[in-house]
Amino acid sequence: MKIIRTKTELRALTESWRRAGETIGVVPTMGALHAGHLSLVDRACAENDRVIVTLFVNPKQFNNPEDLANYPRTEHSDAEKLTPYGADILYVPDGAQMYPEGFATTVSVTGVSAGLCGGARPGHFDGVATVVTKLFLQCDADRAYFGEKDYQQLQVVIRLAEDLDLKTEIVGCPTVREDDGLAMSSRNLRLGPGPREIAPVIAQVLDDAARVISRGGQVAQALDNARAALLTAGFDTIDYLELRSDPDLKLMNRADRPGRLFLAAWLDGVRLIDNVPVAGLASVPAPEDHPLEPA
Ligand code: PAJ
Repeated sequence: MKIIRTKTELRALTESWRRAGETIGVVPTMGALHAGHLSLVDRACAENDRVIVTLFVNPKQFNNPEDLANYPRTEHSDAEKLTPYGADILYVPDGAQMYPEGFATTVSVTGVSAGLCGGARPGHFDGVATVVTKLFLQCDADRAYFGEKDYQQLQVVIRLAEDLDLKTEIVGCPTVREDDGLAMSSRNLRLGPGPREIAPVIAQVLDDAARVISRGGQVAQALDNARAALLTAGFDTIDYLELRSDPDLKLMNRADRPGRLFLAAWLDGVRLIDNVPVAGLASVPAPEDHPLEPA
């Protein structure tokens, strides 16, 4: 696997692959790679002639400068972890490659980016949408691989690829979990040993609530119970716990169509997110009395 740092060098390679009629898959990451990232790389390698893994800690998607400064930067071990997979390139642009002086363009997706992490982290999805658009074009990608772990991000990227007529097909891949159910994330390493024992409660609580709702239980009641269970387990605050439609991410108060439960909660100073599917019911209980969010 070759490490490339400039878009000019990258372009020379992608053009030679194109001349040979080869397909190109890209896996955008911010590094600190774990088995979740590697599952995307594995799939990309299975489905494309050439694979580019990108590593860029994108300043435009951080609303907290401290979070950006503390983001782990582990290029050497990331490159080592990728070695067995057969990716062709690790593309590691710097800030000047991605956002040269005078850079003034933002890609902004409305609709699916509202609420959830878009509400809790203003500007975050503009930063994501802008950087992934650039990465798709720089890599000349036929396919790009994203994890369902960040389900709202996946929907934002699907929307932008469709709206901007990008040729890149967006491939969503299942969330990879630890044996105890905790969704893999570079943030898990920041949890102390006690909180790390508590963290898998997220997956249990979401699975329980999804089961109750898909069997016809009242949504508001199931979410209240889930919130109480998280706070009792030791979580500090809950940014959101919501049932949203899939894939358009509209707030739902009844499971009358397929949806997903979305959670962001703080534990030990670390913000953890997760989501699980909820099957839609053929017949649903009477509507509850709180209003739906406007479309
Ligand atoms: P990052 O957090 O490094 O994640 C890169 C990709 O790995 C994303 O598509 C994410 O959904 C996926 N991923 C993370 N944890 C996963 C897990 N447990 N199972 C499956 N996939 C998982 O997401 C970003 O970077 C950035 O926003 C990026 C898209 C690179 C743009 O800067």
